[in-house]
Amino acid sequence: MAPTILITGASQGIGKQTALLFARKGYNLALAARSDENLQTVAQEIKNLGRDNDVLTVVCDVRDSEQVKTLVEKALQHFGNIDVLVNNAGIFATGTVENFSLDDWHTVIDTNLWGYIHTINALLPHFLERETGTIVNISSIGGKVPTPYLAAYCTSKFAVTGLTEALQAELKPKGIQVCGIYPNVIASSFLERAIFRGKDEEDARKRREQLGQVTNAPVIEKPKDVAEAIWDAVSNQKSEVMVGSANFSQTMYRLFPALMQWVSRQALKNKDK
Ligand SMILES: NC(=O)c1ccc[n+]([C@@H]2O[C@H](COP(=O)([O-])OP(=O)(O)OC[C@H]3O[C@@H](n4cnc5c(N)ncnc54)[C@H](OP(=O)(O)O)[C@@H]3O)[C@@H](O)[C@H]2O)c1
Repeated sequence: MAPTILITGASQGIGKQTALLFARKGYNLALAARSDENLQTVAQEIKNLGRDNDVLTVVCDVRDSEQVKTLVEKALQHFGNIDVLVNNAGIFATGTVENFSLDDWHTVIDTNLWGYIHTINALLPHFLERETGTIVNISSIGGKVPTPYLAAYCTSKFAVTGLTEALQAELKPKGIQVCGIYPNVIASSFLERAIFRGKDEEDARKRREQLGQVTNAPVIEKPKDVAEAIWDAVSNQKSEVMVGSANFSQTMYRLFPALMQWVSRQALKNKDK
């Protein structure tokens, strides 16, 4: 029987490319996101591959534990088993920390951290009962390197790193593989959904433009590169994959932490002092 993967945030970017790659590898797929229209587009693209993948799409906001519980119930009812969970649904946020409202903080942490906790909480009993299963958490280089002007995002992603490593330590003897994926900046369309804050509107707009220029640079890695890293993690049972240039960023930060923070501050401060 074909293995089954459940992917959150599967309607765009990294999640979509991961869905297409695992479909090519012969997986059945449970795909979740808030936009049904975008999920249907991904399901159609999988159909167009001409294989016989079974694809279930479920509209779900990962911030809501009840919706996530229903997602997992529907997927288990449909497929019987789930073999791999990819926690990917996320939101990026940047700007001067004092200009983040509590609502902004909640949006980031409720999506990037609680969203992952909700799926794990709902699916873990199934994995424990079967004494097998793989959990892949998409963290970020921002979950390894504390970066100025990314306080809320780094808070959420450092928490995901801690969650991933603690789960690894606890669940490995129970047959459950847990892996963290750490991409650098990736050329997806995440800017369209990201939160930008600043000293004023112009500052926030400049930050968006600046990041837009970075993501348009040809050297920036693509969602497909992260999908390949996820495949590598799942098929080779890895506990951590740093995606491409993230290795370099992490090494530089370990060797020269103060210098790297100074460089990031200069690059990202915009209108801040
Ligand atoms: N792009 C990067 O530079 C980068 C770098 C490092 C790590 N990452 C991480 O990689 C993951 C994917 O990023 P991406 O670049 O592919 O982002 P993206 O293009 O913005 O895609 C995000 C996906 O998550 C879904 N999503 C967002 N909020 C959701 C919610 N509350 N409930 C359910 N689904 C939700 C979106 O669909 P709907 O809007 O339809 O819900 C979409 O499918 C994130 O965890 C991100 O932090 C990205």
